Amino acid sequence: MHDTVNPPLIPFRAQRCLLSVPAIKPILFDKALASESDCIMLDCEDSVADADKSRARRNVINALSAIDWDDRGKSVVVRVNAIDTHHMYRDVVSIVEQAGKAIHSIMLPKANTSADIYMLEKLLQQIESQCGLIRPIGIEAIIESAESVQNLASIASASQRLQALHFGAGDFAASCGARTVNIGGLNEDFPGDPWHPVMQAIVLACRANGLRPIDSAYGDFKDKKGFLLAAKRAAALGFSGKWAIHPDQIPLVNQVMTPTREEVDAAKAVIEAMNRAESNGMGATRIGGKMVDIASIKMAKNIVELDQFIRSH
Ligand code: GLV
Ligand code: MG
Repeated sequence: MHDTVNPPLIPFRAQRCLLSVPAIKPILFDKALASESDCIMLDCEDSVADADKSRARRNVINALSAIDWDDRGKSVVVRVNAIDTHHMYRDVVSIVEQAGKAIHSIMLPKANTSADIYMLEKLLQQIESQCGLIRPIGIEAIIESAESVQNLASIASASQRLQALHFGAGDFAASCGARTVNIGGLNEDFPGDPWHPVMQAIVLACRANGLRPIDSAYGDFKDKKGFLLAAKRAAALGFSGKWAIHPDQIPLVNQVMTPTREEVDAAKAVIEAMNRAESNGMGATRIGGKMVDIASIKMAKNIVELDQFIRSH
């Protein structure tokens, strides 16, 4: 069902932090560029009122034409409107036709089925071919409805352009009828993390399909402690990044999504201990009083490789 992507998409960059910037506020673009966020998402969707949609689109085109975001070390993701609006086709056509060269990926919100991804893929393919765009544009999708969770496996394998699945806690809560008006975070009426099952499902779908799992926004931007704990829960599950909707959240995400020196040293110690064990014909050994085995090598390598990847990008 999907197209072949040839030449290949730009290589995967770190996406520890995705800073969401309303496209209606170009005054924030320079600040975003100067920030420590790996990735900037220019938002034409839910932070933009209906009456402002075409102005938001123009701002994105102007910003992408005037500034080389890639050269400034930023991946640029443009969040278009969802396919159940009359804005989506115009977002994709206008922005990609006029500024497609500068876009790393298009983010599709409310991606409910693999056919939604297919529609975007085919639109991109046509525009790229018509405009002679050499570098194919990637797709990132937000999982933020009950339906999308039911269809996770087929969404995650819908396109070779797909790079990442993001969790959209706000729309997801609305879709489920969850009794909250907060975007992300805990709910004192629920013992534990109410988002855990869907977050786990997103990580599984991503890791089974070579995609990056990226965690949701956290609306209460004054609550740094709550945000930090949410980012830690996401990292513990396997998310490689998280959204920031406020500059204060950027260093916190980067801190959590970057392995610490101690973690990397401990992972290297596991690999060395297991190398010694294996050369003595053993499949397991102990380190710091704990059993480690061949699975531990894989976990430890993930951390060492992530550290190397982040340093080299
Ligand atoms: C993000 O789009 C959300 O709905 O939380
Ligand atoms: Mg949403």
